[in-house]
Amino acid sequence: MPSVTSILESMDYGTSPESSTHVKDWLARHDANFGHFIGGKFTSTKGARLDVFNPATGDKLATVANGTAGDVGAAVSAAAKAFKTWSKLSGHARAKHLYAIARHIQKRERFLAVLETLDNGKTIRESRDIDVPLVARHFYHHAGWAELRETEFAGFSPLGVCGQIIPWNFPLLMLAWKIAPALAAGNTVVLKPAEFTPLTALAFAEICTEAGLPDGVVNIITGDGDTGAALVAHKDVAKIAFTGSTEVGRIIRKQTAASGKKLSLELGGKSPFVVFDDADLDAAVEGVVDSVWFNQGQVCCAGTRLLVQESIYERFIAKLKTRMEKLRVGDPLDKSMDMGPLVDPVQVARVKSLLAKGVEEGGTLNSASCALPEKGNYVAPGFFTDVGSASTVMREEIFGPYVSAMSFRTPDEAAMLANHTAYGLAASIWSENINVALDAAARVKAGVVWINSTNLFDAAAGFGGYKESGFGREGGREGFYEYLQADWLTTLPASKSSNSNIIATTDALQPASMEIDRTAKLYIGGKQARPDSGYSYAVKTPKGKLAGLAGLGSRKDIRNAVEAALKASAWASATAHNRAQVLYFLAENLSARAGDFEQRLREMGATPAAARRELRASLQRIFFYAAWADKYDGRIHSTNAKRQITLAFNEPFGVMGLVCPNEAPLLAMVSLALPALAMGNTVVLVPSQSQPLIATDFYQLLDTSDMPAGAFNIVTGPSDELAKVLAEHDEVAALWYHGEGSAMMEAASAGNLKSTWVSGGKAFDWYSANAQGAEFLRRATQTKNIWIPYGE
Ligand code: NAI
Repeated sequence: MPSVTSILESMDYGTSPESSTHVKDWLARHDANFGHFIGGKFTSTKGARLDVFNPATGDKLATVANGTAGDVGAAVSAAAKAFKTWSKLSGHARAKHLYAIARHIQKRERFLAVLETLDNGKTIRESRDIDVPLVARHFYHHAGWAELRETEFAGFSPLGVCGQIIPWNFPLLMLAWKIAPALAAGNTVVLKPAEFTPLTALAFAEICTEAGLPDGVVNIITGDGDTGAALVAHKDVAKIAFTGSTEVGRIIRKQTAASGKKLSLELGGKSPFVVFDDADLDAAVEGVVDSVWFNQGQVCCAGTRLLVQESIYERFIAKLKTRMEKLRVGDPLDKSMDMGPLVDPVQVARVKSLLAKGVEEGGTLNSASCALPEKGNYVAPGFFTDVGSASTVMREEIFGPYVSAMSFRTPDEAAMLANHTAYGLAASIWSENINVALDAAARVKAGVVWINSTNLFDAAAGFGGYKESGFGREGGREGFYEYLQADWLTTLPASKSSNSNIIATTDALQPASMEIDRTAKLYIGGKQARPDSGYSYAVKTPKGKLAGLAGLGSRKDIRNAVEAALKASAWASATAHNRAQVLYFLAENLSARAGDFEQRLREMGATPAAARRELRASLQRIFFYAAWADKYDGRIHSTNAKRQITLAFNEPFGVMGLVCPNEAPLLAMVSLALPALAMGNTVVLVPSQSQPLIATDFYQLLDTSDMPAGAFNIVTGPSDELAKVLAEHDEVAALWYHGEGSAMMEAASAGNLKSTWVSGGKAFDWYSANAQGAEFLRRATQTKNIWIPYGE
C-alpha cells in the first residue's frame, strides 16, 4: 500500500477496477457456451464453433456457434413468420415494445458495459459513459418513430426481414443503430454480430425475451464472414444493412445486385481533422484525443488525417506530443485508463504492418513511451509526421490509435487536402472564426461534420458517408427511410419496352457525316458534339420510316460528358432561386415550342391527344421542380446534446447519371432530369434509345434557357452500354437507371459505391402523381449533418 507522501509525490493514479463478477456469473450460467437466438430461443450448442477471447488478456471468454446457411435459413424463417404479426401491430404497440427494451437496457447498463469491455477491450469509461447510454437512447428515440410512423411516413411500409451485419468496434451500439429503426418501422431482423465480439448481442437477445418482445422479431446468428455471406444471399431477406470494411461492402454490393434487396452500407473512412490557426489549440488537442485515441482508434469516423495550418503546425505538434505522453494504456476495466487493447491479434498485426509501411515510405512515427501490459493486444498510441497526401498512412484506414499529420497554408488548400480521399464519412473542423469553420464545413465532402468537436453521435441525427464510405444513413428521419419502402414502388408492372435489336444491325449505322442535316448530335458541355465513333444510328418510326439519325455515343462520349458535368460547378453553387429561374425559363421555352415537340411525339407514334397530354405533363413537371428548387429544406435535428445545433443539409451528389426508359420519352426525361438539376446536381443523361430525337430537340431549349454549359449533358446511343460506363465511372456519384439491365448496373456501381436507383425492369407510370415529388428529391440528395456548438 503506497503511503500518502509517495502518492502526493508521484501524483499517479491508483488502480480503480470495475468488478466483472456479475458478467462472469452470467457466462457461467450459460456454461460460456452459446447457440444462436432464433424464434425467441437459444439453439443447441452442437455444430461448428468459434472461440471468443478477452483482448486484454488473451483468455478465452466463451464459445459461440459459427452459423451455417441452414442456421441462417432457420433464423430468416422465424423472422418471416414474426413479420406477419409484428408488421400489423399498431405503431403505438410497437412503440411500447421498443420503450420496454430501452428500459431493460438501462436496468442492465452496468452489466452490458462490463461485458462489452471484456469482449471488445474498449475502456469501461467509454462502454459505460458512451456506448451503453447511446444504445438506450436509440431505442427510446425509435420508440417515438414507431409511434409516429403511420402519420409521418404515410404511403410507406416496412420491408420484411432485414439482414444486418455489424463490426466489432461498437458491437452493442451498432446493433442498436440497426435493430431500433428496423423494428420501429415494422420489420423483423436477423442480425449477425462480428466474430470477435458476439457476446453483447447474445445478452441483448435475453433482454428481448425479458422485455416481452414477440418471438422471432429479433434473431441473432453468430458466425464469421461466411455466415454473413449466407445472410446476404438468402432470398427471403428484403434488406441488407452492413457496417464494416469497404472491401466487404463492395462484395455485398455485387452480391445483392439484381436481387431487389434494399441496401445500406456504412463503410470505412479516412476523415480529415482540420485545425486553423485561430483555433483554440488546447481544445483541438483534446479533440485529437477524442477522435483518434478513442476506442483505440478503431472508429470508422476517426479524424486520422490531421491537417494543421502551417503557422501553428510546430506548436500544435509539440502540444500533441506532450498530451500523448499523458495517455494511460492498460486494463480496460480500470476506470482510470484512457486506452485498452485492440480487439484481436489479427488487428494488431494488420495495424503494425501499416505502421511499418508508413515508416518505410519515409514517415516519422512518434509513439507514446508508455509501458504496455505484458499480456493482451496492446499497442502504444502515436502519430505520423513527415508524410505527404499520397502516403499509405494518409490514404488507408489504419484502424488503430494513429493519426497522420500534415500542414496546409490556406483554406483552399485545406479543402483540397480534406477532400483528397476516396472516403467521405466525417470531418472535424477547428476554428474560432465561424465564417472559416462553416465555409470549410460546406466544402468538405462528408456525411457528418463536427465543428470544434468530434465524434458526437445521437439517435436524432443521421450518420453515414459520401463517396466510398457508403450510402444510406443511420439515425434521424433520414435514417428511418432506410427501413421503409414507398408503397407505389412495390406495385409497378413490368416494362413492356425492350431495347434489344433497336440498334439492329450495322446497316442501320451510318457515318455521322452522311445526311448531315438530319443527324442529331450529342450535347456535351453546352455544345453539340459529334459522337466519338463517328457513327449515328437510324431512328425509326413505329411504321418503320426513318425519322432521323441519332449520334451513336460510346465510352469516350460519356467520359467527355462526365468531365463537362464536373466542371459545371457554377450550377451547384448557384442559389436555389437562380436555379429555379433557369428551370422556369426552360418551361417557358418548351411552351413556346410546344407544337414542334408534339409533332415529334406524333411522328414517333403518339396520337395527337397523347402527344398533347405528354407535352402538358412535361411542362407541369418542369414547373413542379422549379418550384421545389428553393423549398426542399434541410432540418435542425433535436439531438440529445446541450448547446449544439445539428444542421441536416440536403446536398446534391455532384454528377448524376440518368438513363431513361423508352416509355413517355419526353415526360420520363424531364421527370428524371429536373429533380436532379433542381437539387444542384449536374447530369449526364442517356435518353430513350428508341426515341432519342425528342432529347436532341430538347437541347435546343437548353441553349436558350441560361442553363450553364455542362450542367445538362445528353449522350444518345445504346442505353445499356452507355449506362454501364456511367455505372463504372468513379466521378459519377449517383445513377438512376431504367431498363432491363438493373443487375449489371448495380454490380458495376460497386467500384466507387455510388448510390443507385434502378427500375428492375418495371415501368413507372410517368403520368401518376407518384412520378414526381419527395421520393425523387430525396434520392437526388444526400444528407450532411453539421454539428455546431455554441456558448463559451
Ligand atoms: P469486415 O468488414 O470483414 O467485418 C465486418 C463484418 O462483416 C463482420 O461481422 C464479418 O463477419 C462480416 N463479413 C465479413 N465478410 C463478409 C461477407 N463476405 N459477407 C457478409 N458479411 C461479411 O472487417 P474486419 O475484417 O473485421 O476488419 C478489417 C478492416 O476493416 C479493419 O482493419 C478496418 O480497417 C475495417 N473495418 C471498418 C469498420 C467500420 O466501421 N468502418 C468496422 C470494422 C472493420
